[in-house]
Amino acid sequence: MSDEITRLFPAAVGGSAQDALTDAELLALYSPPSRQERLVRANFVSSVDGSATASGLSGGLGGPADKRVFDLLRQLSDVVLVGAGTVRSEGYGAMRLAPDAAAWRSRNGLTEHPVFALVSGRLDLDPASDVFAKAPVRPLVFTVSSAPAAARASLAAVADVIDCGATSLDVPTMLDALTGRGLSQIHCEGGPSLLGALIAADALDCLCLTTAPALEGGAGPRITRAGVDTELPLRALRLDHLLLAGSMLLSKYSRAR
Ligand SMILES: NC(=O)c1ccc[n+]([C@@H]2O[C@H](COP(=O)([O-])OP(=O)(O)OC[C@H]3O[C@@H](n4cnc5c(N)ncnc54)[C@H](OP(=O)(O)O)[C@@H]3O)[C@@H](O)[C@H]2O)c1
Repeated sequence: MSDEITRLFPAAVGGSAQDALTDAELLALYSPPSRQERLVRANFVSSVDGSATASGLSGGLGGPADKRVFDLLRQLSDVVLVGAGTVRSEGYGAMRLAPDAAAWRSRNGLTEHPVFALVSGRLDLDPASDVFAKAPVRPLVFTVSSAPAAARASLAAVADVIDCGATSLDVPTMLDALTGRGLSQIHCEGGPSLLGALIAADALDCLCLTTAPALEGGAGPRITRAGVDTELPLRALRLDHLLLAGSMLLSKYSRAR
């Protein structure tokens, strides 16, 4: 499988739709309109029939082109926000970018690495894991006041632990805490529960969705899981661009408010 990506929509200006996009062109396509304004973006992969996993993991759905965009989206962000379920199941390590990406960030006035922010209610996270022990920047852990005190004390040694709500996570408080630290480009890599909370709060501004050319059959979860029983109003989206990599589609949608 190649990581070559071409453009389907909007049509290329002054070039051919068949021209493979360079990293610089992809960065331009995914760059925020203004780094000063808060942007809450998520990146997910789904099978054509709507599964967020293959054999329990998202990695089985992606490919080299999807990984290329995944890495470039990290490169553009101030903070990478991930739910504890995804950190545990996908085996996350430290949030350290490749040397080329870190150098690009330095040239563009950013810190070499984005901050890693985790969301957990139970704080069932290992402070000795690479996520914390090898972190190039001190991670953040967003939790609730009712979280277990012992786990909180252990994590506080290796991360800033921040309460956002008494028993359930208050999304606006979390986002304000991030922007208060100068982290306005907020990039969520999952998982479905955290995305559900962002959608419920109508806090998601942009969704980058890879559609993997495969059918999973129905055992896997969707990319978003509602944390509430009540039906939400539909959140309308606008298609910003659609890219093609083999038979894989890479789309970017913005919330149409
Ligand atoms: N297709 C994709 O692009 C994609 C992306 C990411 C993940 N995934 C897949 O999704 C699956 C994991 O799903 P998931 O829903 O468990 O992922 P998740 O949202 O990353 O994790 C859920 C856990 O994160 C914490 N959390 C998330 N939202 C919270 C909130 N609003 N309030 C308090 N805590 C919150 C809780 O941690 P505690 O349990 O510690 O309290 C919760 O149990 C895995 O199979 C993974 O491979 C797919």
